[in-house]
Amino acid sequence: MTERKQLTQRLQYLRGEINRHNQNYFQFDAPQIPDVDFDALMQELQKLEESNPSFIVADSPTQRVGSAPLSSFEQVQHPVPMLSLANAFSDEEFQAFDARLNERLDSTDELEYMVEPKLDGLAISLLYEEGVLVQAATRGDGRTGENVTNNVKTITAIPLLLRGEGLPNKVEIRGEVFMPLAGFRRLNERAIAAGDKAFANPRNAAAGSLRQLDSRVAASRPLAFYCYGIGFLEGYQLPSTQSDMFEVLATWGLPVCDQLLVASGLQQCHQAYRVLAEKRALLPYEIDGVVYKINRFSEQQRLGFVSRAPRWAIARKFPAQEKMTTVTSIDVQVGRTGAITPVARLAPVFVGGVTVTNVTLHNADEMRRKDVRIGDTVIVRRAGDVIPEIVSVVQEKRPSTSELFVMPERCPACDSPVERADGEAIARCSAGLYCSAQVKESIKHFASRKAMDVDGLGAKVVEQLVSEGLVKTPADLYRLSLSQLSGLQRMAEKSASNLLAALQKSKSTTLPRFLYALGIREVGEVTAVSLADYFLNLDRLRQASVAELEAVPDVGPVVAQHLRAFFDLAHNDDVISSLLDMGVHWVDVVSVGEQVTALSGKVFVLTGALSSMSRNQAKEALLALGAKVTASVSKKTDYLVAGDDPGSKLKKALSLEVDVLSEEDLLLLINDH
Ligand code: IVH
Repeated sequence: MTERKQLTQRLQYLRGEINRHNQNYFQFDAPQIPDVDFDALMQELQKLEESNPSFIVADSPTQRVGSAPLSSFEQVQHPVPMLSLANAFSDEEFQAFDARLNERLDSTDELEYMVEPKLDGLAISLLYEEGVLVQAATRGDGRTGENVTNNVKTITAIPLLLRGEGLPNKVEIRGEVFMPLAGFRRLNERAIAAGDKAFANPRNAAAGSLRQLDSRVAASRPLAFYCYGIGFLEGYQLPSTQSDMFEVLATWGLPVCDQLLVASGLQQCHQAYRVLAEKRALLPYEIDGVVYKINRFSEQQRLGFVSRAPRWAIARKFPAQEKMTTVTSIDVQVGRTGAITPVARLAPVFVGGVTVTNVTLHNADEMRRKDVRIGDTVIVRRAGDVIPEIVSVVQEKRPSTSELFVMPERCPACDSPVERADGEAIARCSAGLYCSAQVKESIKHFASRKAMDVDGLGAKVVEQLVSEGLVKTPADLYRLSLSQLSGLQRMAEKSASNLLAALQKSKSTTLPRFLYALGIREVGEVTAVSLADYFLNLDRLRQASVAELEAVPDVGPVVAQHLRAFFDLAHNDDVISSLLDMGVHWVDVVSVGEQVTALSGKVFVLTGALSSMSRNQAKEALLALGAKVTASVSKKTDYLVAGDDPGSKLKKALSLEVDVLSEEDLLLLINDH
């Protein structure tokens, strides 16, 4: 045998073995050889390729080990936008969707759907040119994503080369990168053993891994992939249905989910949902619902898109997850305004994708209504990003040793008496800003993003600053020195000087932000804007009577009382004066008259995710044009701006015949003014 042939054979053997072991390890979670033996195979392959570079092939496992860290990700424009999906939460909502499509397609036949699991990971776009993977990008805002090619190349499930004859010149494959459960558990076990923080859920772990600047780290993460669509295609005739497309993609070597179903008509669709809901717990990866897609591409094309989602597809999410656990203790937290909130500490329970260890019981009445006692077994619910809650107590499991929790009569932080005003559900510490817990919370609020927006002033730093007596009022923040800050735990000199710079920067603010930052009871961002609009400067507001305050839109008698009480306290007056002395400033708006625009006084509600800006930015833009932005849809609403996944507000707006604007409409409105 020639040397060349020998080399080719050895390379082939090594690549085959490494691919097989990789698959056993990452996809089947069943390693067959020890790590050292695997490393030895890899090293031999690397050495052979290094000394014979002309023998390197694009799909060699050496191409998947990762490379030197990047300093940042490049941006990638998606030629075909990456859309999101509308949601249905019940059989009825899906039925309404199906009826709409029938109407639009002018058909009375049962529609054929592809039913796919909704994989709980991250959308990815893979660009193959002449069968070679040349670029991988995240979804980003749908139009622009991040170039994560180096990381994606380390995912063994993703082919570096497509197989087969007659491949397209260019094809963009869309799919989901996710972390199978077994790999996720192993990764977390290792992280904990090494003293690192565990990931909350497989989705976060997958997202964190894909966004690693060091692809060698990504290479060590057990990521997997399933394809579910095509972005753009050149030099190939697309098959006529989504199900045929999956068959073609599989022949090219792309991994296709093993739980796909074709369903015709409502009954089969509902049935498919139930089948997947039952299988969910047995699947080796997480899914959070099913996606129904019209199977025929010609029909998909006729249906088209609405703002950021296709009309021809809908996600049916599984209901919130519920789990049982026990209440190990109940204690109370003291909030910014002194509110004393009972909190149940739980035996850790994994529900709805995160480990829950405590849940708020809101107030004493709520605790009594649910009859939650220490030692009880309770049902905990969590859906998506929603705050976990106790649904109910399992009475049959109540031990004889269970204990009622009695709300304390004195504040656990400062020992001052706790008071509960007549008719109020909330008990409060009476010490105001003499209570260190209230000081801590009010400083956190002062620095928060929608208030003074001090970057780097997190909870841990605030707690130390207050505990060590360095900060008693928000004004003290602006008196901190570099040496005081760098003396704090976990605060290197660099972070200390960044924090000083952030504090300096925050001094330049706006009147609404400043008012909101003061943390006056019931004065949220919207009320703060109304107050600033009405009084135009701080002095007029500080001197306003309760009656004058009540004249402000959005301000009722309770808020007016809170405002007056706040400004009447000498301490608050001092803090405001000190803040101004330390250089906190803003530009006063001169007159409302000059600001009248076509949007003045128009009431907007924003819902769903926007892609070109955050909802907050949209809100600020609208407020700047004199519009009002409120939280819920009512008869007074002039416009609902619906982003992605709009949910119940859209329904309500439609039922009240409120005008609905897309993000594009909103941008036009803003730019026109
Ligand atoms: S199709 C044109 N199919 O869900 C529709 N998406 O809410 C675009 N997802 O960003 C996506 N499983 O990350 C589609 N079988 C599936 C999916 C799926 C999970 C994710 C995807 C997308 C999000 C939309």
